Amino acid sequence: MIASVNQISLLKPDDWHLHLRDGKILKGVLSHTADVFCRAIIMPNLDPPITTISQAQEYKKRIIQSIPEGVSFTPLMTAYLTDDMPAEVLERGFREGVFHGAKLYPANVTTNSSYGVTDISKVDNLFETMERIGMPLLIHGEVTDFNVDVFDREAVFIERHLEPLLRRFSSLKVVLEHITTIDAIDFVENSEFDIAATITPHHLHINRNAMFNGGLRSDFYCLPTAKREIHRIALRQAATSGKPCFFLGTDSAPHTRSFKESSCGCAGIFNAPFALESYLKVFEEENALDRFEAFSSINGATFYGLPLNTERITLVKKNISVPQMIDVGLDGDPNDFVKPFHSGETLGWAVRGFSEMGE
Ligand code: DOR
Ligand code: ZN
Repeated sequence: MIASVNQISLLKPDDWHLHLRDGKILKGVLSHTADVFCRAIIMPNLDPPITTISQAQEYKKRIIQSIPEGVSFTPLMTAYLTDDMPAEVLERGFREGVFHGAKLYPANVTTNSSYGVTDISKVDNLFETMERIGMPLLIHGEVTDFNVDVFDREAVFIERHLEPLLRRFSSLKVVLEHITTIDAIDFVENSEFDIAATITPHHLHINRNAMFNGGLRSDFYCLPTAKREIHRIALRQAATSGKPCFFLGTDSAPHTRSFKESSCGCAGIFNAPFALESYLKVFEEENALDRFEAFSSINGATFYGLPLNTERITLVKKNISVPQMIDVGLDGDPNDFVKPFHSGETLGWAVRGFSEMGE
């Protein structure tokens, strides 16, 4: 990585956790990621979810068809685990290079997770196969128990499910996705197991107060929810630590206005348009610009056993205004726009000029 006061040049990053959706919106959201990132792990929580090899291949094709001209971007597909997923499908999909991992959504934990796993101990056959073939298990680590306080659901998941799972399958390769707590940081960095974690931009910038600032703000509602300030501070330390077990995963999750501004607003923050700038702000504030490349472009690929990217990207120190709303190419109705993370704010680093944003 080459850094000076006004500019920073690094290996092109990858996004190890991304929601692209499907249909018309796919193209409108994809360009924001493909312009900047070389590869992304694509979440399978469509409706219906990606549970077969052919579904993943077809979805991958639709993604590739939506990549802007002249842009090179590789989607890394994942399988959605269900109670009755045949282990053979995981094994074949992984060996054929279609699946790069499988995602565990505890049933009903988040958006489109109703087809998820209802009892983790009942799919040990899948974990056994994944451990044997070295296929990464990507986990949405929250319990769904209504009696557990929503802000404790990650910590309780680690204790009730993750630790026992890793004791049963001690060589299983696990990514604990979008971690939000000191409990998760401690667990991952001190683990004797093969586990890493992704950290989102929003969990580095906001704490849970953001959801209740002068009213109920669904734009800051995501799952797992942001937690207390002490957790945010710890996440910033973990992300900027340079430790190989922490890497970039935006969890960019677009929902149009009509789904956010609702009496039952959807969970998810669309951070793809300024994700890199958002992370970089944190690294600058933490005096850790020299560790940014490890987090954004090295640790994830290393964990997944993939080659590092060879292309480079340059960010320049320059004020950029984040638009209030992004038109994601639906029908032009403002109810179908998506609010980007940092909407209306000014950020201090730019990957590209504002005019190139497709405004
Ligand atoms: O906030 C979230 N949004 N968390 C998730 O786990 C899913 C995602 C989505 O798909 O909208
Ligand atoms: Zn996600």
